[in-house]
Amino acid sequence: MNALETTRLIIRPFTMDDLEAVHQLLDLDLRWSGDGISIEQRREKLQLQVALAQWTTTDCLYGDRGIVLKGSGQLTGICGFRPWLCSPQERCLYQLPERSEPACHSLELGVGYALSSQHRGQGYATEAVKALLEYGFTRLRVGRIVALTDRGNTSSVNVMRRVGMQIGVNPDPEALYPWVVGIIENPAHRCAGDEIKTATG
Ligand SMILES: CC(C)(COP(=O)(O)OP(=O)(O)OC[C@H]1O[C@@H](n2cnc3c(N)ncnc32)[C@H](O)[C@@H]1OP(=O)(O)O)[C@@H](O)C(=O)NCCC(=O)NCCS
Repeated sequence: MNALETTRLIIRPFTMDDLEAVHQLLDLDLRWSGDGISIEQRREKLQLQVALAQWTTTDCLYGDRGIVLKGSGQLTGICGFRPWLCSPQERCLYQLPERSEPACHSLELGVGYALSSQHRGQGYATEAVKALLEYGFTRLRVGRIVALTDRGNTSSVNVMRRVGMQIGVNPDPEALYPWVVGIIENPAHRCAGDEIKTATG
């Protein structure tokens, strides 16, 4: 996935030119990796991320992309696909329809997203996640996409709702991450298993 374009945004891989903006966003604003990540430490992480994007095919999904404003090119946030190894118990708890043997873990395609504090409340996260869903469903043709969040992250759950996800909540008040799972099925998708079932009657 190289770059995706929406009405107001471009979702694109990072380059080393993004270092200062990424440090400001992830380390000083969101404190993504806890306190005290220096710009030099961020440089090392970003170098790995940039290298990974260059070594792999254009459809490599691993790693976050930058969400930048079309006009100014300003970095507003990050988003991307990420894997979630979902246990049979979690599939049952969050009511994810079975696609694998009930006793097996399943590898789900997740989306993640975050905006800088100054760019919230304008629909950018919703716009970016919709673009990822569109890409996942039409280009990659995956069967479903999920989003995970923790207790009390109402803004994140609202993004899930706005992009059309069904919300599954862990009823256990002591439960840890993920506490909420958003799920959206590909409306056009017929997985190989469905086709085989149809073909054999
Ligand atoms: C989760 C997060 C990205 C949500 O940000 P957000 O700004 O609330 O979400 P959006 O960008 O989609 O904006 C939606 C808001 O903008 C408003 N809005 C304004 N213009 C809009 C437009 N053109 N289109 C859609 N919404 C618009 C909506 O009404 C909504 O406001 P509301 O929440 O008061 O109802 C943000 O809170 C964040 O970065 N949190 C920290 C990281 C995090 O928790 N990430 C999720 C972990 S999985």
